[in-house]
Amino acid sequence: MQLQKNYSLKGFNTFGLDATAPLFLSCSSIQEVIDAVNSPEANVSDAFILGGGSNILLTKNPDGLVLKMDIRGKELLQEDETHVLVRCGAGENWHQFVLYCLENNWGGVENLSLIPGTVGAAPMQNIGAYGVEIEQVFYELRAVHRESGALKTFRKEDCHFGYRESVFKNELKDQYIICDVTFRLSRPPHTLNSSYGAIRETLTEMQIEDPTIQDISKAVISIRQSKLPDPARIGNSGSFFKNPSIPESVYADLKDRFPEIPGYPLENDMVKVPAGWLIEKCGWKGHTRDNIGVHRMQALVLVNYGGGSGDEVWKLAQEIRQSVADKFGISLQPEVNVI
Ligand code: EPU
Repeated sequence: MQLQKNYSLKGFNTFGLDATAPLFLSCSSIQEVIDAVNSPEANVSDAFILGGGSNILLTKNPDGLVLKMDIRGKELLQEDETHVLVRCGAGENWHQFVLYCLENNWGGVENLSLIPGTVGAAPMQNIGAYGVEIEQVFYELRAVHRESGALKTFRKEDCHFGYRESVFKNELKDQYIICDVTFRLSRPPHTLNSSYGAIRETLTEMQIEDPTIQDISKAVISIRQSKLPDPARIGNSGSFFKNPSIPESVYADLKDRFPEIPGYPLENDMVKVPAGWLIEKCGWKGHTRDNIGVHRMQALVLVNYGGGSGDEVWKLAQEIRQSVADKFGISLQPEVNVI
């Protein structure tokens, strides 16, 4: 076990923010995670677990250990005529995993192409895009308990998935370290998910009538590249806030005042409203302040052009939140983890 002191996290968060971990440890196997839990030196119970660093805003230095999840490897566990079960190490890059599935012609994750981050972080917040959420292909995951070091298997029903939510962000917050995830993917013929408007339009532009999963992936990549900044070039953590859900009656009142407000009905008499629209209508889209700002193509994405601080981004986020509350009476909740 190689504990490192005063380790810079600048290269480990997609916002590109400067922060220092007093202690840093990279773990590349389940046994290394268990050894770390059993080591009093490491103090894993209070550690911050780092995946791809693509969903965090560092406003200060973490207090204790930062444990970097580096477990790699992909393994075909089972297959039958219609499906495969594939296990993937938590430290694998998510998009590389998607590409690997596409190469093998396994379907289910193509709509989730190009999402930054790691495989282990994906179930944590039930990543989703273009009509698909990871829970639809999730089979199980294995995680180490931070106090006892016991390895536990979580089936889908144990994970309490919701919109950008799971048990690991709620009831079991900070209790487990996700080590690998098993997915249940389809073999051809695949059931495609191309109902999302932007995907349909892009496939039409590409003149594709009968898309494959590879075509869907290409369409998603093209949409994401046209709207979302590449974190390798402009620091960001994707959507900064969640899309809020509001009661139908509240939505109806807003619709009277703002007839063009978009809304997607949910099952429980609630309506989901795009936070990007609310933020844009408050005049923030493309706003720049020193080295940070609001992305000019997607108002839901806050950016660090280089040299900005986590505090500045957080201050801007609070101002945006306040103006959306003042204009629409809606309270936006951050989607990123603020540290
Ligand atoms: N919109 C605007 N102005 C903006 C941005 C969006 O008016 O600047 C409105 C438009 O009406 C647009 C609608 O918002 O039709 C939806 O926009 P978009 O398709 O870009 O999706 P989103 O709701 O802003 C969500 C996810 C994204 C995911 C996309 C596609 C959340 C918080 N975000 O964004 O996920 O890629 O849908 O499915 O649910 C992420 O989580 O980091 C992320 C990027």
